[in-house]
Parts: sequence; structure tokens; C-alpha cells
Amino acid sequence: MGWKTLDDMDLNGKRVLVRVDINVPVENGKVTDTTRIERIAATVDHIQHAGGTVILMAHFGRPKGKVVPEMSLEHIAGTVAEVLGWPIVWADSDYRDAVKELEGDEILLLENLRFNPGEEANDPEFAKRLASLGDIYVNDAFSASHRAHASTEALAHLLPACAGRLMAEELSALEKALGNPERPVVAVVGGAKVSTKLDLLGNLVTKVDTLVIGGGMANTFLAAQGIDVGKSLCEHDLADTARAIAQKAADAGCEILLPRDVVVATAFKAGAENQTVKAEDCPADAMILDAGPDSVAHIVQVFERSKTLVWNGPLGAFEIEPFDAATNAAARKAAAMTKAGDLVSVAGGGDTVSALNQAGVSDDFSYVSSAGGAFLEWMEGKTLPGVAALDQDR
Ligand code: 3PG
Repeated sequence: MGWKTLDDMDLNGKRVLVRVDINVPVENGKVTDTTRIERIAATVDHIQHAGGTVILMAHFGRPKGKVVPEMSLEHIAGTVAEVLGWPIVWADSDYRDAVKELEGDEILLLENLRFNPGEEANDPEFAKRLASLGDIYVNDAFSASHRAHASTEALAHLLPACAGRLMAEELSALEKALGNPERPVVAVVGGAKVSTKLDLLGNLVTKVDTLVIGGGMANTFLAAQGIDVGKSLCEHDLADTARAIAQKAADAGCEILLPRDVVVATAFKAGAENQTVKAEDCPADAMILDAGPDSVAHIVQVFERSKTLVWNGPLGAFEIEPFDAATNAAARKAAAMTKAGDLVSVAGGGDTVSALNQAGVSDDFSYVSSAGGAFLEWMEGKTLPGVAALDQDR
């Protein structure tokens, strides 16, 4: 990769525009998870200590080019200051004056970029306006880099540009997992629907040795084999697609692992009465809510012979007990192998982080990405515009 890092830049006395992703969950005006803010600290500290002035650029929500007061970054500026431990000055859309007025150690946080229609349009004029505020551009927002927006794409071409610490860390973890992995590689893909992960499955079967399919999407694959899945969540209209993916896997020499036994219930609620049956014996009035112990044992065997694991999505309805059992057991096995130095494990995307947190193993994986959609697009094998824009000779 031709991108530079912070170590390649002379930051002293420079104003450094840093694209970050602090699109954090907020409930009743309070930030409920500060992980994304914590993860930009290394970049911010490095620039500040090197004598640069940080100007943070970020989005919040999807205001679609309009000023939506409840999506103002002013609401979270206090939390950002607390977590980062630097004084933060929030700037409304009149950025220029705010830059001039910065004093001492102060960091500037620009208003939600998506209030300006130029951001999502990747508008060169808006990018120029942002560029005029600083001397150097740093992208530390891997999780927003699947968007070709002014602050992730156009701006990177207007100033000396580099990857921040978090971006560099994400890219090297992902490279280890799928770019240039130690083999055998196993991927676990779960979640509700095949339809949302078609490209991802299609790409993975050409890259990994074993693909474990779990969650609701496994039902679609079982049904495509003629198995009656009762009232389970299932995209029956995607039977042909599921068969085509299975064929592509066979052609590429990738083994697909579907549940052998399943935990079924007639109600989708915590503590619902349930039983474990063979995958082909799901009662007509029941739904599959988790993979069974035999399936977990099979997954564990595959982990034991693998060197690299990429994980996206839960194996069952992990949000309600006891249907979190398979996800927890498989995640704990992966964590234990990682701790023992026997597995490189990389996870990310949507529900995955909550599932691993719930299993209490996030800290024991080699890397847990803070990205949602960007992680999925990377698993689909796509080039992320924000990453590609950094990859240039300067
Ligand atoms: C995310 O929350 O995954 C990122 O901040 C990207 O947000 P977006 O999907 O609204 O572009």
C-alpha cells in the first residue's frame, strides 16, 4: 500500500485536519458507548504532542445535507473532551473564524459535516473549503471510508495525506485476516438474511478454506437443500442464489458448514421452551433460533485446524437467552485459541461487536473492528474510496 502514516509527516506547527468517526450511540442525550472516541485518542495525542493543532472533522447520523439540530456535534463535544482529555472547541458552520481563534492546546471539532450537502456529494468546492482550514490531512475513520464523501475522498487529494493510527491498525489487521492470511482460513458469517450478504458470501468462498454459515441465513441454505425449516426466518425466494453460492464454494474448494443440529422453539422470546433436534427434524410449527451443541463441536473442530478466523454476525438469536449459547461457545473457543497464540481472529460489522461483548471475549480477539458497513464492504472485497484516496504518491 502506498499510504503514509503519521510517522512520515512533519506535524510541528501544522494545522492537521483529522477525519474521525465519532458516530456514537446516544440515548436521552447521553453517549452510551465511547469506544469510537477512545479509539481516535492515539492519533489525537500523537499530533498534539508533536506540536500540531488537531481539527476534528466528523459526521453524526444521516441529516442528508440539512441542519438537523439534534444531530449537532455540539451535543457530544463535552464527552469527546472528557474521553480525549484535551480542551475541545466546537465550531458551527463558520469554521474559518473558529480556526483563527484557537489557543494553546485547544482542539477544534467542526460541526457535523453532513449538514452541508457538499459532504455526501463529494463536492470539490466543499473539499476545498475544508482544505483551506489546515495544512495536513489525516484519515482515521476506516469505518466511514466506504463512503466517497468530501471529507473522506476529495479532501485527501488536496493536502499532504496520511492514515491515522486507528486507520493503520484496522488496515493491517484486515490485511492479516484476508489479504495475506496464514492458512487455513475460516470465516463465520451469521445474521438474519442472505440477501444483505450476497456479495460478501460470494467473495468469501473464493478466499477462505471453510465458511461457517449461521443465524437466520443458515435456514435459507438448509431450505435450498430441501430441508423443511418450519416457521424459521428463511428467504425461500433465494434458494437458487444459495445453491449458486454453494456451487461457487465447491468450485473454489471452500467447504461450507451448515448447522447439523438446531435449537428450536415455538415462541421468539427469552427463556422460551425449546428443544434440540437434527437440522432436518425442525417441527412444522417451530423456528430455529440457534445452532445446537453438535454443530458447535463441528465448528470448534474447524477452528482447531485453522490459523486465521474472520467473523461477522451471530450464530443464533444471541440477543435472547438461551439462544446465545452457540455464539458464546464458538466465540469463547476462538478467544482461547487466540490467547494461546494459535489463531489470528478478526471480527467486525454490526451485531458482531455486541455479540462478542456479550460473550465477554472482545478483548481476547486479535482485532475487533469498530466499523459496521465499511467492514462488510471490505469483506465483500471492495476497494473503499477513503482508503484508495490515501494510496497515492505525494
Ligand atoms: C457507521 O456508523 O458505520 C459509520 O459512521 C458510517 O455511517 P453511515 O453508514 O451513515 O455512512
